[in-house]
Amino acid sequence: MRIAMIGTGYVGLVSGACLSEFGHEVICVDKDSAKIAALNKGQIPIFEPGLEDVVATNVKAKRLAFSQDLESAVPKADAIFIAVGTPSRRGDGHADLSYVFAAAEEIARGLDGYTVVVTKSTVPVGTSRKVEEILRQARPDAEFDVASNPEFLREGSAIEDFRRPDRVVVGTESDRAKAVMKEVYRPLYLNETPILFTSRETSELIKYAANAFLATKITFINEIADICEKVNADVQDVARAIGLDGRIGGKFLHAGPGFGGSCFPKDTLALLKTSQQVGAPARIVDAVVAVNDARKARMAEKIAAALGEVQGKCIAVLGLTFKPNTDDMRDAPSLTILPALQAKGAQIRAYDPEGMDEARKHLDITFCKDAYQAVSGADAIVILTEWNEFRALDLNRIKALMKAPVMIDLRNIYRPAQMADAGFTYVSVGRRSVSPKH
Ligand code: UGA
Repeated sequence: MRIAMIGTGYVGLVSGACLSEFGHEVICVDKDSAKIAALNKGQIPIFEPGLEDVVATNVKAKRLAFSQDLESAVPKADAIFIAVGTPSRRGDGHADLSYVFAAAEEIARGLDGYTVVVTKSTVPVGTSRKVEEILRQARPDAEFDVASNPEFLREGSAIEDFRRPDRVVVGTESDRAKAVMKEVYRPLYLNETPILFTSRETSELIKYAANAFLATKITFINEIADICEKVNADVQDVARAIGLDGRIGGKFLHAGPGFGGSCFPKDTLALLKTSQQVGAPARIVDAVVAVNDARKARMAEKIAAALGEVQGKCIAVLGLTFKPNTDDMRDAPSLTILPALQAKGAQIRAYDPEGMDEARKHLDITFCKDAYQAVSGADAIVILTEWNEFRALDLNRIKALMKAPVMIDLRNIYRPAQMADAGFTYVSVGRRSVSPKH
């Protein structure tokens, strides 16, 4: 099966590479000439564990190629995936569909023989139908169907998520398109991965409902964490206990500084816009957005409170990206928290294993080469992202390097008793704060 993937962002690149691994012949197309040139040299523009290997193996096997030339990729393809960006439109929170529609116009020009055009980008309900209209208008003669196939992969574990998804959702009512999509996902079909065929509108909404639900789960446990702090309860025990109830489930119940990233903030806003447009209020999602925004700002206050006086203090920050195993800084809590601390007069020294190049574009702080350099002379450490390498720091060494042994752990990667024993003042999320034992 021959596949064209339009867009080489996270979703396009990972999906294209993984579909070539399934045995399909995939061409990934992007307008960005520098990106295509780099990909052709084997350079991967994003940090995603395992991606470089999958790309290299499949390029070598001649199943995967990169090109700028959309028009020549289209006629040969059995399925064309649109995986371009759909950022929040500035000012109003609507998903910006201009890249999707531009891709549709270009695809229309090249259609040759029956083709399934698939929207893989996260797009508001009704978009696949609009793509169909664009194609139909430009090419009344062409034979095609437009299907929706949302992606559920997570940054940092995207390859694994693609290879072993919980489910695949395909929105189409055409039997011909269904047959093509079954062929695309045949290896997963053989693995008995549930493949759900729905209408296109349903498929588009499933993506937003899934992300909004997960964002709600996180926001719920974050508010429970706040209550825990007031009543001397432990949010991790609460999360574990409620998560063992199969109806609730244990995943996405880690309290923290608020969710960030390229998806939850954008998709919750876009869902709200849809709900307003159609006159079906989504008050829970509305509250989730407001609570999460306020939370990030409040985390700066929490850090300030742990320090007492912030003016003139030096804060070591470990982790800048919105989650570990990515270099993505989009809507990362650090982007709200650190400027707020600087405004209070703090000096910030930070280290992130993969995110510093990206962070330099957004933050005016001191970047350090590792965690130990960052904590040297600091009045407090703040853990903002739970990278594995921060989980087993040499606490004695750190204490000796710091001006004062204070840690604010916004990801709960250490235990209060352990930190008290190690001689730290330790503040975390939804758990008791402790003072040094000696
Ligand atoms: C999310 C979804 O998990 C994917 O299923 C979806 O495909 C993707 O969005 C998308 O729409 O493309 P992602 O944004 O990569 O994936 O990352 P998550 O692992 O979901 O984390 C999002 C944010 O929630 C991070 O800031 C993370 O720190 C936070 N989080 C997550 C918590 O604070 N607590 C948790 O228990 C889980």
